[in-house]
Amino acid sequence: MSKKHTERKGTQTHPVSLITLVDPSSPISEQFRTIRTNIQFASSADRQIRTIVVTSSGPGEGKSTSSANLAVVFAKSGQRVLLVDADMRNPTVYKTFNLSNEVGLSTVLSTQRSVLEAAQPSGIENLSILTSGPKAPNPSELLGSARMDQVIDEARNLYDIVIFDMPPVVAVTDAQIMASKADGTVLVIRENVSRKESLVKARDLLKMVGARVLGVVYNGAQHTKDQGYYYYYGS
Ligand SMILES: Nc1ncnc2c1ncn2[C@@H]1O[C@H](COP(=O)(O)OP(=O)(O)OP(=O)(O)O)[C@@H](O)[C@H]1O
Ligand SMILES: [Mg+2]
Repeated sequence: MSKKHTERKGTQTHPVSLITLVDPSSPISEQFRTIRTNIQFASSADRQIRTIVVTSSGPGEGKSTSSANLAVVFAKSGQRVLLVDADMRNPTVYKTFNLSNEVGLSTVLSTQRSVLEAAQPSGIENLSILTSGPKAPNPSELLGSARMDQVIDEARNLYDIVIFDMPPVVAVTDAQIMASKADGTVLVIRENVSRKESLVKARDLLKMVGARVLGVVYNGAQHTKDQGYYYYYGS
């Protein structure tokens, strides 16, 4: 039996993309812990990093995988974490954690329902999930609303770390909106997929809204022994 299978025994089964749960001793899991450490060090008493946006220039570059694993390693360090699926256009977090998406961020934003009521336990200690909720016709307007500011405040009061999984920054304005509200932004780059021009555009779009780019997660082309997620400090 492989190591992976042994580690899954007796616990809930998790998708392979949750590598930090499935194979916590792997080099990729170690990279996510390094990212966590770097973010913790970037946080200071007068400039705390509590809300983190995860985005990338284009689609399919590993934003959701990275935000989920980052949420797991923060939770494992004993911090209370909320992972928010703020990609209301292509939500995947509910699938990754095998949750219902009947109530979520779109519900909280369009009603008076609280974050506490809408968040779900992930099955992992210290980690709660706010799924995207039912499809809304106007994600950008919802994220840019005054209600979103209340939601962020409520989440900050309930959790130590709030991570927002976003759509690509170049395609739609959602990630820019959230990056302007969050304490920090992590940019995911995928080898052989992210294009240089798009990366420059992504950086400019984030700069334009005064986003604090904490660093870059470099997602290797394949999940192999030698490739994975690497982290570099941003400017
Ligand atoms: N390094 C990798 N090697 C192989 N497959 C990967 C790698 N990183 C991500 N994937 C796969 O690529 C797909 C997209 O990953 P993910 O959902 O994390 O990206 P995303 O940036 O959130 O995409 P979207 O823009 O659609 O929201 C998933 O099926 C994921 O398992
Ligand atoms: Mg995604």
